[in-house]
Amino acid sequence: MTRRSRRTPARSHAEYEARWASQLADHRWQAATDLPAAISLSSYGARQLTALMNFIPCSVPALAFFTWRAAKIAAIFRAHYPADTPITEIGCGLGKNLIVLAHAGYTRLTGLDPTNAAIQAVQEQAAWFKRPWQAGRLDLLNPDPATLEQLAGQVLFTNHVIEQLPGHTRLALDCLLRARPAEVIHIEPCAELLAPARSAADLASWLHIIAADYQRTLLTTLNDLAAQGRLEILEARLLGYSPRLANAPALIRWRPAQPGRAAR
Ligand SMILES: C[S@@+](CC[C@H](N)C(=O)[O-])C[C@H]1O[C@@H](n2cnc3c(N)ncnc32)[C@H](O)[C@@H]1O
Repeated sequence: MTRRSRRTPARSHAEYEARWASQLADHRWQAATDLPAAISLSSYGARQLTALMNFIPCSVPALAFFTWRAAKIAAIFRAHYPADTPITEIGCGLGKNLIVLAHAGYTRLTGLDPTNAAIQAVQEQAAWFKRPWQAGRLDLLNPDPATLEQLAGQVLFTNHVIEQLPGHTRLALDCLLRARPAEVIHIEPCAELLAPARSAADLASWLHIIAADYQRTLLTTLNDLAAQGRLEILEARLLGYSPRLANAPALIRWRPAQPGRAAR
C-alpha cells in the first residue's frame, strides 16, 4: 500500500494559491447582483450533490445546499453575536463565508488569507457587492504582529483552515491567543468528536480526515490549553453537514481566559 505524502504548510499554501488563482479567473460572484443570490454560489456550480444535511444523506442541487448552509451558519453566529460585531475570517479563501455573514446582517467583516488570489478575491467582491470589507494577509504559522494587533477584541472565525495544519495545531492556536480575540469560532473537521465505530457518516468523515492528512488534535489541544487556564471552551459539537457524505465539520467556540472571570 502506498502512503499519501504528508500535508505540510508549504504544500497547503501552494495548493490553495493555485486553486484560488484558477477560481478567481472565473469571477463566479459576478453571476449574482446581490447577496441573496450570491449565497447559493459555490465551486460546485449547478451540480446535483449527495450531501449531508442535519446528519441525513440527501440528493440536493448545489445551489439549494449552499443556500441552506448559509442559513445554518447565519443561525450559529446570530445566536451569539450582534450584527455590529467585528468578525474576521482567517483563511477566508475566496470569501464565500463573508458573503454568508454579510447576508446574515454582519457589517464589520474582514477576510485574511496567506494567498494572493484570496486577498484579491475578497477585494473584488467588496467592490462588486459595494461592502466595506477589509482584506489582508495572515499566515497563522508566521503572523505579522501588526496584523494580530488589529484583531484584539474581535470574533475570529476559521472554516476548514486548521484542518490544513496537521502537526501545527498548537502553533495556530497560539497565534489566535496572541491576537487577544473576544471569541474564536471554528468550523473544522474534529476527529475527537467522531464515533466511526457507531456511525457510517462519522466513519466516512474519519476516513476522509486520515486520507487527506488533516489535523486530528484540535479539540485535544484546546482541552490542554483550557486545563492550563489559558482559554475556556464554550461549545463543541458536530454540525452534520457537508456538500458530500464525508468531511462534515464540528463547531467549536472558545474564548481566552480572563483573570477574574468565572468559567461557565
Ligand atoms: C479549505 S480552504 C477554506 C477556505 C474558506 N475558509 C472557506 O470555507 O471557503 C483552506 C484555507 O486555509 C488557508 N490556509 C492554509 N494555511 C494557512 C495558514 N497557515 N494560515 C492561514 N490560512 C491558511 C488557505 O489559503 C485556504 O484559503
